[in-house]
Amino acid sequence: MLSTLPPLETDPLWELIRLFKEDKRDHKIDLVIGVYRDESGQTPVFDIVQKAEHWLANNAQSKAYKQLSGNAQFNHHMGQFLLSPDKASAASHCTIQTVGGTGALRVLGDFIHRLSPNATVWNTDPGYINHQPIMEAAGLRVNHFRWQQKEGVLDIESCLSDLSDARRGDILLLHGCCHNPSGIDPTFAQWQAFATFCKNTGVIPLIDMAYQGFGDGPDTDAAGLRWLVSQLDLVLIASSCSKNMGLYCERIGAATIVTKDTAQQTSVRVLLEHIARVNYSMPPDHGAAVAAFVFSHPEQWSAELTQCRLRILTIRQQLGSTLKALGASAELCALAKQKGMFSLLPFSATQMQQLQEKHAIYGTSNGRINIAGLQTHQIRTLANALIDISQWDNHNNADQLTA
Ligand SMILES: Cc1ncc(COP(=O)(O)O)c(C=O)c1O
Repeated sequence: MLSTLPPLETDPLWELIRLFKEDKRDHKIDLVIGVYRDESGQTPVFDIVQKAEHWLANNAQSKAYKQLSGNAQFNHHMGQFLLSPDKASAASHCTIQTVGGTGALRVLGDFIHRLSPNATVWNTDPGYINHQPIMEAAGLRVNHFRWQQKEGVLDIESCLSDLSDARRGDILLLHGCCHNPSGIDPTFAQWQAFATFCKNTGVIPLIDMAYQGFGDGPDTDAAGLRWLVSQLDLVLIASSCSKNMGLYCERIGAATIVTKDTAQQTSVRVLLEHIARVNYSMPPDHGAAVAAFVFSHPEQWSAELTQCRLRILTIRQQLGSTLKALGASAELCALAKQKGMFSLLPFSATQMQQLQEKHAIYGTSNGRINIAGLQTHQIRTLANALIDISQWDNHNNADQLTA
């Protein structure tokens, strides 16, 4: 049987992380993996998470199985966090706990495939590295639409033009906020345009909300999603507590299905639970119990989350102004205007390789860097390196042109 093993390559992201660890240069900078780091370069455990773990260690009474949909308290809070603090408007959703945001995407991919096996998932280009493989693993076809900036905002005309072949029942996969990797988010008016598009075409939105709270704050970050929910009969949501609670390795996320028709909710729940049952039966409880505790201490959590958000914003602004002061191109300086943890450099894979080899700065080959992984004292080094690499390519191109 093993002789038929397919010749798969090592995961490129984890391969870069391995290379970074092996790099002996003291000044190396890791901007590959999507984790928040503080000024000391650590990915901290939130104080409120530590408090939750302490509380659980002293108060948890049993490790007996919970239910197929996971921790009910967590599901309730997550539904409210996504949709609205207003309890009434969260009435018609079914939320089940999943194994991280990734697990939510896969459960929803399976859900879509069960109901509509011929649906096409429309994915942004550039997009999150794992969206296409997850949807394809669920048996779905994936097409792409351009996700790029025009005059400082998302170029929605090119999105809608590329989406003109989408059919009723197809899926529009959008990032709820802090688009990974580009940092380009729709304006509220553009979210309204996506809602109108879905209403007119019967295309169903699937919103991947992996960074709620990391852009402009939890409610503003969810404004587009909430608009879609207010306008449409069906919205699918994958969410995650990896970043906004720093619970990465606990693997806490949720799959949510919002329907206008509350009568459909039971059948929706049964199918979601069936999908969970045949995959992993039920998700692990510890992280969900921690997240439920965090959700029920909103003030402390909000203070810590705000601290993370402001640090990312400050780093981004400082990098932007340093680049400007050093005379970098407008294209490079544009990263100051993007949202969330990531930015996409206007660099080719070869330039990213140069950045790594010459400057010991690691980002992904598509040009993504994790702004949230940067420390203040590294900003100038990074800015100089980026300018050097952008010029390096120009010289090379010039050489090629004259050769
Ligand atoms: C857009 C997007 N969706 C989903 C995920 C997966 O999150 P999790 O770690 O909770 O599985 C990530 C993680 O980087 C992401 O960037």
